[in-house]
Amino acid sequence: MRFSVAGGDGHDQGTDALVRLMRKDEKDEHLEKTLGGALASLRERKVFEGKEGQVSVLPMPEGGGPEFVILAGMGDAATPESVRCASALAAKRARAERLGSIAVSVSSLVDEGLDARGAAQAIVEGAGLGLYRMDRYKNADGEEKTEVSRAVLCGGPNKNLSAMRRGVRYGRALCEGTNYARDLINTPSNEKRPPALADMARAMARREGLRCRVLDEKQMERMKMGALLSVSRGSSEPARMVILEYRPQGSRTKPIAFVGKGVTFDTGGISIKPSGGLELMTTDMSGAAAVLGAMLAVARSKPRVPVVGVAGLVENMVDGDATRPGDIVRSMKGTTVEIHNTDAEGRLVLADALHYTREKYKPQCMIDLATLTGACMVALGQKVTGMYGTHGELLERVRDLGERTGDRVWHMPLFPEYGEAMKGRIADMCNISGGRWGGANTAAAFLQHFADETPWVHLDIAGPSHTSKAEPYRPEGGTGVGVRILAELATAWKRLTPQEGKAYGC
Ligand code: BES
Ligand code: MN
Ligand code: ZN
Repeated sequence: MRFSVAGGDGHDQGTDALVRLMRKDEKDEHLEKTLGGALASLRERKVFEGKEGQVSVLPMPEGGGPEFVILAGMGDAATPESVRCASALAAKRARAERLGSIAVSVSSLVDEGLDARGAAQAIVEGAGLGLYRMDRYKNADGEEKTEVSRAVLCGGPNKNLSAMRRGVRYGRALCEGTNYARDLINTPSNEKRPPALADMARAMARREGLRCRVLDEKQMERMKMGALLSVSRGSSEPARMVILEYRPQGSRTKPIAFVGKGVTFDTGGISIKPSGGLELMTTDMSGAAAVLGAMLAVARSKPRVPVVGVAGLVENMVDGDATRPGDIVRSMKGTTVEIHNTDAEGRLVLADALHYTREKYKPQCMIDLATLTGACMVALGQKVTGMYGTHGELLERVRDLGERTGDRVWHMPLFPEYGEAMKGRIADMCNISGGRWGGANTAAAFLQHFADETPWVHLDIAGPSHTSKAEPYRPEGGTGVGVRILAELATAWKRLTPQEGKAYGC
């Protein structure tokens, strides 16, 4: 979809429809008059009162302007999140009505207290994310598809053009990064085995002007990444590690780093998973997808801080040569690990990916994302990310971005007892704790050992990585959760203040 900005109220942009996002009980006398009582009638019949989730389409009086007006409710207040949701519902309604172009009022949102840049960004996010669909694998059924191909954001009499333009450009970068991640997640596992997925990342990096390095198994063996490689042993396709670098001109500071779990399919290995719902394990590379999508958004939005993205790509399969429960492996850090359950593989991938990132880049911080544990879904449900970390200020920033982006996160504990539970019997560590309780926390404590002293946040996205029920701007399938948190973190980056002592609970 093409986005542009203009002054005025949107009546004169030659679009098929005008979109008006309205707060509950908001009055617009001009629009009421134009519609000659139709809006009042909708309100009386409680069809459209501006409540969250309400959308209505009304014909406009003839006179050369848009043929329809689409009303979408924001609920109690205009906030970035209520704008994203209403904008998404309006854009999807336009598509359903086969309306190819829309003009969206930004000035009415400024009147409601939002700044023009933020309002424009939220409108673009809502429409760009809401209209996403993966139709690559569907044969056209003869029915022609309409896309909403053009949206004009209208700034009213005060215009706000340059602020809106900045919001549009940034919002687009966030959408493209998120939708790229969704495409990767929604690609079936037979088409994204590690070498193929690494090729896709390389092609994206070339298009976007990012530096890209792909490690093959020989190189990883030389670097002694025994933990990651142990997961890959059962697959007929080799592992890969993708490293993307964004470096702004003239910058000499250390980068911030994003690290993702990229298990392109998780059978569980010899500790094989039950067959029900196994097809969902095609999404077990959502952490890597978020990192790659965030790097795309970063390449487009060009923050001042250098950024590296690292994705550990493996396929966890069953085979005569697969790693056995009881095997002991040696990680790149030198830590030996007893594998008591080959289904606890994500942490093994991240152990080496985190250590590699730390050693190679000495980054200012590391954020890892992983569909790590079912236990995190038990704790927080399907819509909330579990957040762990060792650096108070960094945790605070990510928590805040979770609120602001709508990718909600909740801070979970890293008490010493969780680390204790991960000690090995004959090796240094074990890849599972003795019992099943607190499984998300013990997994995070395992990672903490490899993140070591680097300010670090771990996001367990097992729940929100995909959805089986569409939300306004999250269609069914991969959600691309985390992309906007990472990109916004880079955009607003400020050096962390060195932390005295350990974070709460560590
Ligand atoms: N990829 C899974 C976690 C997962 C489960 C993600 C459900 C999304 C939906 C992970 O590799 C896994 O299998 N974790 C195990 C760990 C256990 C063996 C300690 C789990 O959560 O059961
Ligand atoms: Mn697993
Ligand atoms: Zn997994």
